[in-house]
This record gives sequence, C-alpha cells and structure tokens, in this order.
Amino acid sequence: MTNQTLKICSVVGARPNFIKIAPFCHALETLNNDVGRKGSIHHILVHTGQHYDDRMSQAFFDELNIPHADINLGIGSGSHAEQVGKTMIEFEKVIREIRPDWIVVVGDVNATCACSIVAKKEQVRLAHIEAGLRSFDMEMPEEINRLVTDRLSDLLFATDRIAVRHLLNEGVPQSRIFMVGNIMIDTLEKNRSIIEKMELSEIIRSNAINRTSGFRTNDLDGNYALVTLHRPPNVDNNEKLSEIISFVCDELSREMPVIWPIHPRTRKQLDAMNLWERLSRYPNVAWLNPLGYHSILKANMSARVVLTDSGGMQEECCVLGTPCLTLRPNTERPVTLIEHGGVSKLVGNDVTQIRHGFRELSDMPRKPSRPEFWDGHTAERIAGHLIEYSSR
Ligand code: UD1
Repeated sequence: MTNQTLKICSVVGARPNFIKIAPFCHALETLNNDVGRKGSIHHILVHTGQHYDDRMSQAFFDELNIPHADINLGIGSGSHAEQVGKTMIEFEKVIREIRPDWIVVVGDVNATCACSIVAKKEQVRLAHIEAGLRSFDMEMPEEINRLVTDRLSDLLFATDRIAVRHLLNEGVPQSRIFMVGNIMIDTLEKNRSIIEKMELSEIIRSNAINRTSGFRTNDLDGNYALVTLHRPPNVDNNEKLSEIISFVCDELSREMPVIWPIHPRTRKQLDAMNLWERLSRYPNVAWLNPLGYHSILKANMSARVVLTDSGGMQEECCVLGTPCLTLRPNTERPVTLIEHGGVSKLVGNDVTQIRHGFRELSDMPRKPSRPEFWDGHTAERIAGHLIEYSSR
C-alpha cells in the first residue's frame, strides 16, 4: 500500500464522537509522516452537524486539536428519523463525490448509524470504532445504532473482551474483529497533565449559568458531587426530572456541594418547566453550562462521587477511580461496573435506589482501574490494523 494513496473518510456528529476521533486523526497524521509512507494517507473528516453549539462542538475541536472538518453536513436537531434521514441524503452526495476506500465511524450516535448505512449502500468498506457494546435495551436509540453499525461493518474495533464476545455471538467472523481497547482513554491520557494543572474554582466561575449564586468554591477538592444527565428517560419526563432534582437539591446538596453542567436537552426541559427561579435558591449547587473536555475531566478527577447517565463518563470514572452512580437500568459498558473491577453502580432513576446507592458509594475510596488495552495506544492499533487490512 506504500505507493498508493489510501483515502479514509471519518465521520463525527455529536460530542462524544469528537473525543474519540481526535487520537485517530493524530495517529493517521503520524503514519502519514513516516518516511516510507509519506503522504500515502488522505484523511477526510466529515462533521454531520448533529451537535452544533460551540460548547458542544467547536470547543472540542479547539481543545483536542482536531483538524477542521473538511465537510460539515449541517444537519442540526430533529427527531431521530429526521436526523438519520437528512444525514443519509447529504452524506450520500459526499461519498459519491469523494469515493473513499474506507468510511470510519465511531460510537453509537445517529450520525454513526446513518453514515454506516450509506457506506454499505455505496459499497465502501466500513470500519467501526467502539464495536460490540450492547445494553440489550431496544428502547435506547443508541442500541439500535450500535446493532445496525456493527451488522454492516467490515472491520470491528472492540473496546474489551465482553464486546468481542457479543460480536462473536452475533456471528461476526473472528477475522474481522480486533480487540484494541478504548480510544477515549487515549484522549484522557494525552490530556491528563494539562487537566491536573487546572483550577476548579476558575472552571466554575467561567462556566456558571448566571442563576448560580452564593456557591462557595473553597475546599471543594475531593468533597463534592458531579452530576450530568441527558438521557430522555431521565430528562424528557417532567415528573422524573423533578424527582431527581429534588433529590439532588434537597438531599444531596445538604451533605456536599454539587456541580451540575447542564446538557442542552436538559436545559430545554428546565426552561419549559419554569424551574430556574426555584433552582437558583440552592446555594450549594453550581449550575454550569456544558463544560469543555479538560474542564469536565478536572471536575471528575477531583469529585468525591459522580452521578451520571453518560456512558463515556462511566468509562472515565473507571480509569480515574471516581465512584460513579449510573442513573440507568443497564449499561453497554459492564467492564466499568464494580462487579467487574470498576467503580460504577447501576441505580436506574428511582430516587429510593439512587439514595441507597449514594450511601454506599459516597464514602468509597477512589479506585482507578484499567481494563485490558485501555492504555492510551488504541488509536495507533486501529490505524495499524486498518492499513494492514487494506494491503491484503
Ligand atoms: C446525543 C446522542 C447520545 C450521546 C449524546 C451526548 C443520539 C441518538 N444520541 O444525544 O448517544 O450520548 O448526544 O451529548 O445520537 N442541542 C442543542 N445544541 C447542540 C446539540 C443539541 O441545543 O449543540 C439540543 C437539540 O436541539 C436537541 C437536544 O439538544 O433538542 C438533544 O440533542 P440530540 O442530538 O437529539 O441528542 P443528545 O441528547 O445530545
């Protein structure tokens, strides 16, 4: 393959994708600068535009040094069918024009699924980074995206041995599966020293929604709860969201300060429920805008406990060792759970269970753990396999 140009088109759409694509872009760049391979890889980055706010998108490109997307499809918000449908229409045009050798998709968002279908219909080889994760919960749109993407992929890059087992059970030939580790952890390791030097008080000050008042930022280190929520079962239902908020504000915040960066989906719901006036009366809760990559990692690293419904944060808690209450009934990332050596406990979204889980985890010591190959070198392995496979 050394004398021939290999055209690779990678796709990103939503916030977690940006964190995963950064190390892959850098690994391709490094390979491309190798003496024997100079310029033999042509990498084209497509942003579908599913996430478009600066804080949800451009901030990550800047912080993580991701090259400017070559093409932005400008899809924006909408129902699932609208997002997937519009992405397919626009991405098909791009693929017909650029005819890549490979399309590389990451994770499980709508952009991942939409572009995988286009890849196959256009008969372009497809590689999936983060293959084999399964929650076995078909009510999750991400589970549908994962199943479709893995079923269509030619190369499947799995994060751990449980994921590999799922793929084999579904009949994927072993020869197409590569257990490479977790690419998100590459980004964490690369940025760890920057993150460690940051000041939490400055992060709070510069990201506070102006409804935050009276929050004390001294003596926070190791003594606060970090909360993030964005999944529809937790935030789209007024009653459920009110219950969780009451627990966080009326119970949790009396025991320790709470830092809560609000996802746009949750923000919309809080605006619609006219809750802000009530929320700003809790001085021990800092309401923040969505945080950048370095800032959220700093907030995680120094927290006593995390309450989240994000799969990515579950994985970051695992490596950083922060006790993590996962507000979901299931997870596609079982290696992060306490029973598999991690720090995460599934508590669903019932307040009795959340309270119980909080009692159990809030005094648990930090316990960093590192599943196999979560070592900061996943992207290099993926790029290596992709090149090697292409030359077969
Ligand atoms: C999506 C992914 C989810 C991922 C999450 C991380 C799917 C099915 N879901 O969920 O897997 O964990 O991203 O954030 O792809 N919005 C803005 N500004 C933005 C982006 C979104 O205001 O930059 C609003 C949208 O208008 C929409 C809501 O937030 O109303 C949700 O966005 P959407 O892309 O539908 O999904 P997420 O909930 O972010």
